[in-house]
Amino acid sequence: MLLCLLYMTIKKGKKLQPSVKFPVILLSIFVLGFAAGQYIVLANIFSKTSKQKTETRQYIGEEITLPAPNLFGSTSVEEAMQNRRSRRAYVENEALTIEQVSQILWSLQGQTADWGGRTVPSAKNAYPLNVTLVAKNVTDLAPGVYHYIPENNSLKKVVEDVPANFDEAAIQAQNKSAPVSFIISGDYSLMAKAFDGESRDENVVLEAGHAGQNAYLQAESLGLGTVVSGGFNQDLMKEILKIPSQEDLFYLIPVGIPAVETGASH
Ligand SMILES: Cc1cc2nc3c(=O)[nH]c(=O)nc-3n(C[C@H](O)[C@H](O)[C@H](O)COP(=O)(O)O)c2cc1C
Repeated sequence: MLLCLLYMTIKKGKKLQPSVKFPVILLSIFVLGFAAGQYIVLANIFSKTSKQKTETRQYIGEEITLPAPNLFGSTSVEEAMQNRRSRRAYVENEALTIEQVSQILWSLQGQTADWGGRTVPSAKNAYPLNVTLVAKNVTDLAPGVYHYIPENNSLKKVVEDVPANFDEAAIQAQNKSAPVSFIISGDYSLMAKAFDGESRDENVVLEAGHAGQNAYLQAESLGLGTVVSGGFNQDLMKEILKIPSQEDLFYLIPVGIPAVETGASH
C-alpha cells in the first residue's frame, strides 16, 4: 500500500502540492528503511541460532561408577603448591590405578555440593566445562575415551579403545607417553546463556585455568607427574575424541608416574 502511495505520489507528483508530496516521500523512505533494518536484524538472529546446533555425546555401554574421592590426602595444600612443578617424564608402561584417575577427575570437575557446586568455581554457576579422559593404561578400566559425569562421579564411554591417531593429535612427547590424559573443553554458549545472551567467552577459558591448577595440586598430592598443555592439534583431537562441535578444547593434561626429567622445559 505504501509502495502504491509512493508510486502515485511520484507519478502524479507534478499535480500535488509540495506540502503533501514531500512528507509522503519522506515517510515512505523512513518506513521502508525501518522495515529493511528489522529484516536484517531478524535474519541475523535466525541464521545465528540455526547455526548453533547443539550436538550431544553418544555413549557406549553402561555408566561406570568411580571410586569416591579421598578427602584426607596426606599432603597439605601449602606443600602441594610449594612442590608443584610441570613434570613431563613418566615411567614407561606403568599403569595408573582407577583410584588415582578418579581423584584427578574429581579435582578437575567433581561435584561437591547438592546444588551442583564443583571443585572448580563457575561464573553464575554456568558450568560450561567438560572433561574427557583418554585411558591408555589404567588398572580396572578398559582402554578408551570416556566422558566424566560430575553429578554421578562416573564415566561414560564415548570411543572404544584409544584412537589410532591420538599420538599424532597429542604432538608433544609427554602427551604421547602418559598412561592417561584429560582433555578440558568448554561450551561458550552455556556461559552466554547465563549472562542473558551476552557473550562471556573469557570466563570459560578462565575456568579451564582453575581446573588445570587443581589437576597440578591433586597430582602433586598423589605423587604423580603432570603438565598442562595447550600445544596439541585441537581440531584433530576434537574429531577423534568425538567432542561435540559447540565445544572448544583448552587443555590436554597428561598424568603419569613421574620419572627423572631429561628434556628441556617448555
Ligand atoms: C596456558 C599454558 C599452556 C601451556 N602449554 C604447555 C605445553 O604445550 N607444553 C608444555 O610442555 N608445557 C606447557 N605449559 C607449562 C609451562 O611450560 C610451565 O608451567 C612453565 O614452564 C613453568 O614451569 P612450572 O609449571 O614447573 O612452574 C603450559 C602452561 C600454561 C599455563
